[in-house]
Amino acid sequence: MIKSEKWLEILKLFVESKDIYLSGQEIGKKLNISRSSVWKHIKSLQEKGFVFDGKTNTGYKLHFPIDTPITVDAEEFNTTCFGKNVIPLIETESTNDVLKKLGKNIIHGTLAITEKQTKGRGRRGRQWSSPFGSGLYFSIFLKPDLPVYVIPRLTILTGVAVSESLEKFGVKTKLKWPNDIMIGDKKIGGILSEMALEGNEIDYVILGIGLNVHSEYRDFPPDFRDKAGSIKTETGKNISRQFLIKEIIYSLEKRYLEFCKNNGLLGEIRTLWERRAYGINKKVFITTGKDKELCIILGLKEDGTLLVKTLDGAIKEIFAGEVLF
Ligand code: BTN
Repeated sequence: MIKSEKWLEILKLFVESKDIYLSGQEIGKKLNISRSSVWKHIKSLQEKGFVFDGKTNTGYKLHFPIDTPITVDAEEFNTTCFGKNVIPLIETESTNDVLKKLGKNIIHGTLAITEKQTKGRGRRGRQWSSPFGSGLYFSIFLKPDLPVYVIPRLTILTGVAVSESLEKFGVKTKLKWPNDIMIGDKKIGGILSEMALEGNEIDYVILGIGLNVHSEYRDFPPDFRDKAGSIKTETGKNISRQFLIKEIIYSLEKRYLEFCKNNGLLGEIRTLWERRAYGINKKVFITTGKDKELCIILGLKEDGTLLVKTLDGAIKEIFAGEVLF
């Protein structure tokens, strides 16, 4: 990360001015820094992946990615806690790890968001491909006053919050238990929730969300290309990541507050999840370890476990595992 926060102010100026060229002199005057310092920051931004169009004697304008979510200010989130402290990063290993390292020194609702992850992590030790400029990669830090056993339900809640946010942009998604966000048969997003305990109590929870927004198939690892997609590849839409992050953070806080008020009961979330459930009432393979079994998904239990029927008619509850596709 570039140490000075001036890089962020410069980036914000470019995002705000959209198609207008800005000169080094203008920027320097606004931010009270020298012209050479402005150019140094622009060069640094270019090295990280931002592309600028330059015009002799006129200045620069930001060419890509103009919809960068890392310039969204805390005040732009229509929330009380979520996103009220933002850690914007151009590049980092993993936003979950950023929050984990800061641990005790950050407040409930802190949001870490980046343009690129070099060690993005998924569930079960998988890698989460996070190229520059093409997705939303962010994590929220929570200090829940809830019993430990309800925490896995937050993944279900987060899936619903993301899905309902996407619907506001005309994008319909399905939720594949427990943490995948799908369009058709392609995974376009995932949730990685991690918890730290202090004795028997929750110290903190980190909700990490990755969404492929503008990615192309070539951006995914070759052995995952037939299963992964993005909002762009599956719908043809170019959604603004700035607007999308604001909507998700709003919806996430709203659903989280209801959940806390309900003492960790899913309530309405359960129905909202089932309505969007990938593979519901269909035969799908479920794995809970090494073996896989063909089952019919019946729905979700109040505690967030998956209810299935095996082909010989037995009803099973799946606590940990995965729906294959
Ligand atoms: C999965 O589908 O297995 C979960 C993917 C979660 C990816 C997000 S991106 C932001 C946050 N940082 C990480 O390293 N992982 C999560």
